[in-house]
Amino acid sequence: MARLDNKVAIITGAGRGMGASHARRFIKEGAKVTLTDVNEVAIRELAEELGDNARYTVQDVTKAEDWRRAVEETETAFGDVTVLVNNAGILGPIAKTADLDEDDYLKVCAINQHSQFLGMKAVIPSMQRAGTGSIVNILSLAVCGPTTDSRALGLRGQQVRDPGDDEGDRPGARARQHSRELRAPRPHQHADDG
Ligand SMILES: NC(=O)c1ccc[n+]([C@@H]2O[C@H](COP(=O)([O-])OP(=O)(O)OC[C@H]3O[C@@H](n4cnc5c(N)ncnc54)[C@H](O)[C@@H]3O)[C@@H](O)[C@H]2O)c1
Repeated sequence: MARLDNKVAIITGAGRGMGASHARRFIKEGAKVTLTDVNEVAIRELAEELGDNARYTVQDVTKAEDWRRAVEETETAFGDVTVLVNNAGILGPIAKTADLDEDDYLKVCAINQHSQFLGMKAVIPSMQRAGTGSIVNILSLAVCGPTTDSRALGLRGQQVRDPGDDEGDRPGARARQHSRELRAPRPHQHADDG
């Protein structure tokens, strides 16, 4: 039995890159998959390549109506949705905060963040009917710490410090440090400390 037998997935941004890679692996592992993207040609060609367990819906992830349609079409073709991979995302322009255009900033927020809320809201009723569900929200380490190259994605921490040469200024450095701290064994920890 393959690891994803009986799973019904929606994978956004599946036209290329990581989304296409996720879709190939999901199909190999036995899932039925709806590929979505704004790039119709790319998802049509990939769905044809992947065979009967793959289908596609053209979808702009920032539009609630597109989410409703993607879920309805998936349910009709494959049954209740049990996996959502919120993968679609853009890098956005690279500019200092003071120079960043507000519309560009809002576009990154809409595609990378708000879309994930819309997606979860749209699939949860289907998952509740199925009695199971997994939601994978993909984002970038750029949202976790300050960056000196200032993309909208990492606005939360950027440009507060002067650009410097210590590791704390590099993209993702805080997240990497946090991750190292979590992995490091705690002194005086005993097996039954929990
Ligand atoms: N590639 C990396 O190194 C990396 C690193 C960190 C995080 N990520 C995240 O992983 C995800 C995928 O990255 P990638 O490099 O494969 O991206 P990519 O640019 O190769 O592919 C993104 C896909 O999303 C689609 N898309 C864009 N806007 C859309 C919209 N409004 N509605 C629907 N689809 C839309 C594009 O058409 C494209 O097919 C993104 O969320 C990205 O932020 C990637």
